[in-house]
Amino acid sequence: MTVDLGDLMRTRRAIRKFRPGPVPAEDVREVLEAARWAPSPANVQPARFIWVRAPSVKERLQELARESKEMSAYWDASFAPDGPSGLVNDMITPETIAVVSDPAKSLTNVNDENGFEWAAAMSIYAMWLRAHSLGYGGVFVQHWLADDAKRLLNVPRLWRFLGVFTFGHSGEAKEQTRLPFDDVVFVDRFPGAPRPR
Ligand SMILES: Cc1cc2nc3c(=O)[nH]c(=O)nc-3n(C[C@H](O)[C@H](O)[C@H](O)COP(=O)(O)O)c2cc1C
Repeated sequence: MTVDLGDLMRTRRAIRKFRPGPVPAEDVREVLEAARWAPSPANVQPARFIWVRAPSVKERLQELARESKEMSAYWDASFAPDGPSGLVNDMITPETIAVVSDPAKSLTNVNDENGFEWAAAMSIYAMWLRAHSLGYGGVFVQHWLADDAKRLLNVPRLWRFLGVFTFGHSGEAKEQTRLPFDDVVFVDRFPGAPRPR
């Protein structure tokens, strides 16, 4: 059965609750293949993907996810355990793929030299969609004390830790909305009166 890519894009959701159960290694590999084939500036391929499998490391990642929320809650109460963003993402039940990227692999760009982050982001969305296409739920977790995560996973000091993509057997059904099409897409120019020059 073929599924329309547009439908896949519309039905992909951020799934944060997972049912236990193994994900076949070939499916994990397929998801990682999606990451590998994502585009990057001049094809420099700055991103790397760490499939965290060892239960002991996953447990430390889980503890770090909790600490990361606790640190943010110090400044913003919405990250406190009872706040709207207080949920600590599950690092134990799903497959966990950490995404890191090398700032040295950015091209000279007169405005920004952050192509290494853009490339990693494209890999993340590719994994998210591919996992969904294989029937899994997943979510990208950006919320980390990045230096601690790097130390835990042996990431070189100057590399950027983007976060962790988690996916597995979905344990929840989600619905989501988006802003109306005409609120986000403009033709020719941004709406509003032009500013006097
Ligand atoms: C860059 C980025 C960072 C995100 N970080 C987190 C996160 O740290 N924890 C989390 O549970 N969800 C995270 N999400 C998931 C978003 O909350 C989710 O995609 C959004 O609410 C829209 O819902 P949908 O993906 O189901 O359409 C992140 C998504 C993106 C794109």
